[in-house]
Order: sequence, then structure tokens, then C-alpha cells
Amino acid sequence: MPATSANSQSIGLPKAELETPALCLDIAAYERNVKRMVSYIIGECGIHWRPHMKGQKATELAVRAVQAGAIGVTCATVYEAEAMVDAGVKDILLANQVAGDRKARRLARLQREATVISASDSAAHLEILSRAAIAENVTIPVILELDVGMGRCGVAAGSPAVELGQIASRTPGLELLGLMGWEGHILKYDPEEKQRQAQAAMQALVETAAQFRKAGLRTDVVSAAGSGTFLVSASTPGLTEVQAGGGVFSDLSYQKWGLDHDFALTILTRVVSRPSSTRVLVDGGFKTMSYCHGNPQPLGVGEVKSLVLSAEHGNIELAEPNDTLRVGDLVEFVPGYTDSTLCLHDEMCVLRDGIVEAVWSIPGRSGRR
Ligand SMILES: Cc1ncc(COP(=O)(O)O)c(C=O)c1O
Repeated sequence: MPATSANSQSIGLPKAELETPALCLDIAAYERNVKRMVSYIIGECGIHWRPHMKGQKATELAVRAVQAGAIGVTCATVYEAEAMVDAGVKDILLANQVAGDRKARRLARLQREATVISASDSAAHLEILSRAAIAENVTIPVILELDVGMGRCGVAAGSPAVELGQIASRTPGLELLGLMGWEGHILKYDPEEKQRQAQAAMQALVETAAQFRKAGLRTDVVSAAGSGTFLVSASTPGLTEVQAGGGVFSDLSYQKWGLDHDFALTILTRVVSRPSSTRVLVDGGFKTMSYCHGNPQPLGVGEVKSLVLSAEHGNIELAEPNDTLRVGDLVEFVPGYTDSTLCLHDEMCVLRDGIVEAVWSIPGRSGRR
């Protein structure tokens, strides 16, 4: 039988002895990024931080975020929420619509151990949550998701949201707590336009929250903003919390989206072939590194002319000849997007000062809902 975990026995070893490909977390860089997020969101903006775990997944990271000051975490799936509850996290926002009666009942059962607020955007969906809550004899806390411009899920701001809020507040088994909006559509804009678009999106959210209060509906939670937007959104008066998560790692996408954090998550590979002085083949391809939102970038190899990822190979064409890189040498990559890269791995090697401090498993990585 093959070993189930390539690096589970690597604690105490230097990075260079890891089996490759390996997902590596520079824990000191992670801690610096967390400090920045806590200091801005909680310190400067004076609101709660509820980091999204969809791209972090390891429960150890959720526990650390809470220890650093987060009110709880945001999750994308019931499975992620179950893992977080198992790890002792007590306050969770499931920022997605959970559909299907069996899955909704799993969400309902979690309420016995923690508060798991669920997003909803339609009367039909509220009905699913209500059925599950009644069947499990619990109350499910809900917030309404507004479409603040992204064109994904979400009820329209203003009176359609207030009308749905009134339905939610009288639906048996549910407790309406407020609103959320995810302004993901503004990521692509240049800084000036992004500021304008953030203002419009956040205005739609907080003005609808004001209409909720006028209608006697609760707005304990007014939640928004990700790692590529919180710097322009989090200071909006009326917001109560920020969902930014992936900024604890940072990557080339977050950098492109204006986040100046340290790169904490990398992929360690080894050179397996040198067909010519400008070509380097490494033992990590698209099953190891994602090209969603852009290619990863190899560090310390000079200018890269092209990078092609096949299943198990990274095929690097260098701009200049390099005769020092040899078969067996390490090449480390910064991910194009950490969210779509981390979920390709079973485990994360945690390094401090170049030594493996821990190896964490990555639950729910296969997209299990
Ligand atoms: C609902 C929701 N909130 C927040 C985010 C931002 O997450 P992150 O900060 O990890 O980029 C996303 C990302 O896609 C999202 O879907």
C-alpha cells in the first residue's frame, strides 16, 4: 500500500527534506497577515472579523483566527461548517444557500453545538430551512443575502429584501438576524473605480439594513467584504463584520486585487528534468497548482517566458539560460490563487524558520458539500 500522507512524518525536518510536491505554510508570514487584518478590521474599523474558510479549510487556522480576535468564521459548505464545529468554533456564518432536505437537516443538527447562521435569498429556500429546523426541533438563525451588484445569488436591495425579511421573520423555525452582501464584482477594477463601486455596493447593503430596522426587522449582522475588497469596504458605517479570509495567505490574485500582504502559502516542487538550458520540468502540474485567476509563479529561477501545467508536470521555459538548476533541486511557487490551489492537497506542511512545525490535514478539500 502506498503511504497515505507523504509528509506526515516530516515534523522537525528542514523544508528541503519534504517530499514534493508539498503545500507549505510559512506560519510567521501567516501570523503577520492575520495581525494586519485584525489591526485594520477590528482595530481601525471597529467591526468584527469573520474570516472565510473556503480557501483555508484547515481547522487549526480557524482556531488561530478566533484566538487572534475573530468573532467566528465564514464557511461555504455544510461540510466545512461541520469540521469547524468539531474543532470547537462556536459562531459560524454559512454564506451560501443550503439546498436539499437531507443537507438542510445536517445544518439544523449543527445548531445543537454551535450557532451556524445560514444565508438565504428566497421564500422557497427559507421553506427548506424551516422544514429542516422543525424536523430537528431547533431554530436556524438566518440572514438574507442581497445581490449588491455581483449578479450571483441574492435578493434585490430595498423593498424586495424587506418583503423577504418579513417572510423570514414569521417563518417557523427560523430567526432572522440581518443581511449580507458579497461585492465580488468589484475585484477587477482599478483602485479609483473600485472605491466608487465599493461605495455603491455597501450603500445598497447598509441602506437596506436601515429599511429593515424601520420595518422592525433585526440587523444584528450586516456582513460583507473579502480579502480583495475589505480595504475599500470595511470602513462603511453600518457594517458589523467582514468575511475576508484568503488574505491570511495572500497570492498573486490578491496582490493584483490590491492586497499588500506577505505570501504565506507556497507549493514546493522538485526539478525532475532539464531538457535544455532554458527548460525546467518540475514535479507539480495542474493537480498540484491551479491556474484559476492566473498561473502560479516560480521563485528564484529568473525571468519566466512561459509556464505550462500538465497533470503532473510544470513545464517552465526560462527567458535566459540557467545551468545551475539541477535535477533534484527545489523550485517553490507562489500560487495564482490559494483557494483553488489548497483544495488540491490533502495536507499542509507548516514551517517556522524553515523547519516543519506541524502537518495539518485539509478537510472538505474535494468540494464535498
Ligand atoms: C460569500 C463570500 N464572501 C467573501 C468572499 C471572499 O473570500 P476571500 O477573502 O477568501 O477571498 C467570497 C469569495 O469568493 C465569498 O464568496
